[in-house]
Amino acid sequence: MLKDNGQVFRLEDYRESDYLIPEVTLTFQLGPAETLVTAVLKVERRQGVAVTAPLTLDGDGLVLAGLAVNGAKADATTFEASPDRLILRKTPHAARFELTIETRLSPTKNKALMGLYVSNGVFCTQCEAEGFRRITYFLDRPDVLSVYTVRIEADRKEAPLLLSNGNPVEKGALDAERHFAVWHDPHPKPSYLFALVAGDLGAVTDSFTTASGRAVDLAIYVEHGKEERAAYAMDSLKRSMRWDEERFGREYDLDVFNIVAVSDFNMGAMENKGLNVFNDKYVLADADTATDLDFANIEAIIAHEYFHNWTGNRITCRDWFQLCLKEGLTVFRDHEFSADQRSRAVKRIAEVRALRAHQFPEDQGPLAHPVRPRRFREINNFYTATVYEKGSEVVRMIRTVLGQDAFRAGMDLYFERHDGQAVTIEDFIKAFEDASGRDLAQFSLWYHQAGTPNVAIATRHDAREGTLTVEIEQSVPPTPSESRKRLMHIPLAFGLVGPDGQDMAYESAEGATVEDGVIHLRKRHHTVRFSGLKARPVLSINRGFSAPVTMAASSVAKERLFLARHDRDPYSRWQALNTLFTEALISATRRKRGGRQLAFPDELVGLAVELAGDGALEAAFRALALTLPAEADIAREIGENIDPDAIYAARMALLSTIAEAGRGDFAGLHASLHDNAPFAPDAAGAGRRALRNALIEYMALAAGDPGPAREQFDTADNMTERAAALTVLAHHFPKHGDSREALARLEAQYRDNPLVLDKWFQIQAMIPSSDTVELMRELMGHAHFSLTNPNRVRALIGTFAMANQTAFHSADGSGYRLVADTVMALEKHNPQVSARLATAFRSWRSLESGRREHARLVLADMAQRKNLSRDLADIVERTLA
Ligand code: ARG
Ligand code: ZN
Repeated sequence: MLKDNGQVFRLEDYRESDYLIPEVTLTFQLGPAETLVTAVLKVERRQGVAVTAPLTLDGDGLVLAGLAVNGAKADATTFEASPDRLILRKTPHAARFELTIETRLSPTKNKALMGLYVSNGVFCTQCEAEGFRRITYFLDRPDVLSVYTVRIEADRKEAPLLLSNGNPVEKGALDAERHFAVWHDPHPKPSYLFALVAGDLGAVTDSFTTASGRAVDLAIYVEHGKEERAAYAMDSLKRSMRWDEERFGREYDLDVFNIVAVSDFNMGAMENKGLNVFNDKYVLADADTATDLDFANIEAIIAHEYFHNWTGNRITCRDWFQLCLKEGLTVFRDHEFSADQRSRAVKRIAEVRALRAHQFPEDQGPLAHPVRPRRFREINNFYTATVYEKGSEVVRMIRTVLGQDAFRAGMDLYFERHDGQAVTIEDFIKAFEDASGRDLAQFSLWYHQAGTPNVAIATRHDAREGTLTVEIEQSVPPTPSESRKRLMHIPLAFGLVGPDGQDMAYESAEGATVEDGVIHLRKRHHTVRFSGLKARPVLSINRGFSAPVTMAASSVAKERLFLARHDRDPYSRWQALNTLFTEALISATRRKRGGRQLAFPDELVGLAVELAGDGALEAAFRALALTLPAEADIAREIGENIDPDAIYAARMALLSTIAEAGRGDFAGLHASLHDNAPFAPDAAGAGRRALRNALIEYMALAAGDPGPAREQFDTADNMTERAAALTVLAHHFPKHGDSREALARLEAQYRDNPLVLDKWFQIQAMIPSSDTVELMRELMGHAHFSLTNPNRVRALIGTFAMANQTAFHSADGSGYRLVADTVMALEKHNPQVSARLATAFRSWRSLESGRREHARLVLADMAQRKNLSRDLADIVERTLA
């Protein structure tokens, strides 16, 4: 593990490598305890580089077992090897030479899950960002592209399956026990896309014929006996492949495409060329064990990794500062894919909720960074919501600014111009500028400037003149190391909603560029005057969340209620309702802290009940209308001096008020949404279940007992409804016998299914009670919990820290200590997962003073520990700064 040495990497220090490695041949003699790796590198000195230039290869914890130059054992005086570097002081005179490097690894000892490791008996690799250097010494940087040939040798019983990138070339026996396979990937790629898998796995197979007629063999490898649960992933893969052809003109480019599911994985999945490796959570699903959310995630992530084949692999990043070049763009592509497969409006609302929940707090706290950062200590800490989700929003805005046709032309030009290259965000933007003839200089600040812009809006209608005047002002709050911000180009989609609910046409608009239903803010302040409006319209602004900004609108509740009922943009309807809920909850929180009675506006409560029952709307949308802002959402909107207990009480009170108001309707509606058809994971069915699940919580609250939830838990034929019912039982009736019994039943029934047990851990980790810290310590001792498996850690501790506001923020600091203890325990073997968990503290400064002090002490205690990993030191120090 790399200990922190305080080194900071800077974008402006980028320079090309002196050497290139056009070809690599790797031989793996696999053994769980010991693996010998022989790397033969064809090295090339770049033109113009002095022959005396040393060649420095990256390593991380490596043991050099042998080194030869052009086939001859290297002279010990010509090189220097350490665990993290191999320096050839003297290289051959010729511009091209060959290096043979042998390294010895211990895959079973690798619990950091970077490089080559063993998961449930399967050898697998994870190299992004800098894991390849844990396998062999290399120029481990994304702008060094090589053609790989990989030979794998292993025990035939232990590993009948031998996979690497590209196409299979050869396989055969070595002796009675061992066999081998050779793979060749003709597409030059950076080392972070290298992958190897060897083990004993089952498969589902299929085939796909590309638009131009290439036949591709598809396979998804999973543990034996789980093949049927990979069917949905396979279906998603084929739909993704077709969609990328139709929507982006991108075809697949190898003869095979393999996906492997492993159970120990630091992240969601990885796009290695021709050999994607997945967290099994994002492959395995069936009605009995997975929820609709799991199915939707599988569809999205299968698509995401597949789409990387063009946006990431064929065109990759010049350096890691450019991570959003592939991630933001690929998230945008997977969002569009899911929107096309399901309901566009509901998908958009889910995206915005996620952005607000994960990216806004990041952008508004100590870990804020631009979508394209300029410095980092540890790149693993930059796989963030800002790079991914805000990065996607920025691409979406490019489409909004240019329009669909120019956007597509820009993408086409990007693919054509940069195929096979490692490029920058500037190259990406330039393709859109060149294809459209538009200047995106101001727009590009979205990549370079951190922070969530705020837009303040006030409207004035003059009936006599028939004008609507809209005052708009932008501001960008300061973020760490960027105190002065420049003005941004903010595209705000809008509509002027007339009394009949239809968008009103206006005669002219002055004061800002207004085109195709979008107001383009470029200055600090714009006064936009719309004319030809005798009747007073209601301004619907930032439709579809066209810009990732916070809004301070002067509009009154009456206008919001109107938009929630009548806006033709479903996203805006939801937004209006959500803002009303948030405002009501903020004011209730204040009253609670002031010891006053809580009350909620009747129109708002009535509207929620009305929308839930409106059969003209999609069920999934109606479910969202019944979903109150989460406690963390309310906290974020309050922004300072936060008391999570008061927020919890306010939210519970609104839940109960709606439950009471819906008492007459909800049970009947819940029953009517049930059908006897077998479970299908499609959007319509998922929507019905989402609505039923929203209703069951209110029904249980109205009943004041677990009966309705217990009934749903007992009768559900799918995990979506079962898990939701269990959540209601455990969270609202934690002490009740029914709840305990239901929890025990799920545990007993799915004892052997870790992914279901994760849900069981998760539900309990979210119980809003001061007893939960105690329960957590107990659950960490559960036979199926393990600190070395990232899914278990995320399900139990991650959920507690990120999604249990009252218990994590226990007033006595015990929740913080629990999480900090876990961070420190993880840090020893898996710094990446440890550092990620530590980000749970990022909003500590916005807490009320007692909790703030507890959090500060816990952070300071972590900061002063000796020998912290680079990952954790980076997070803790930035959080405290
Ligand atoms: N490239 C992968 C994806 O988004 C994620 C890799 C994450 N790597 C990391 N070191 N955190 O599809
Ligand atoms: Zn990605």
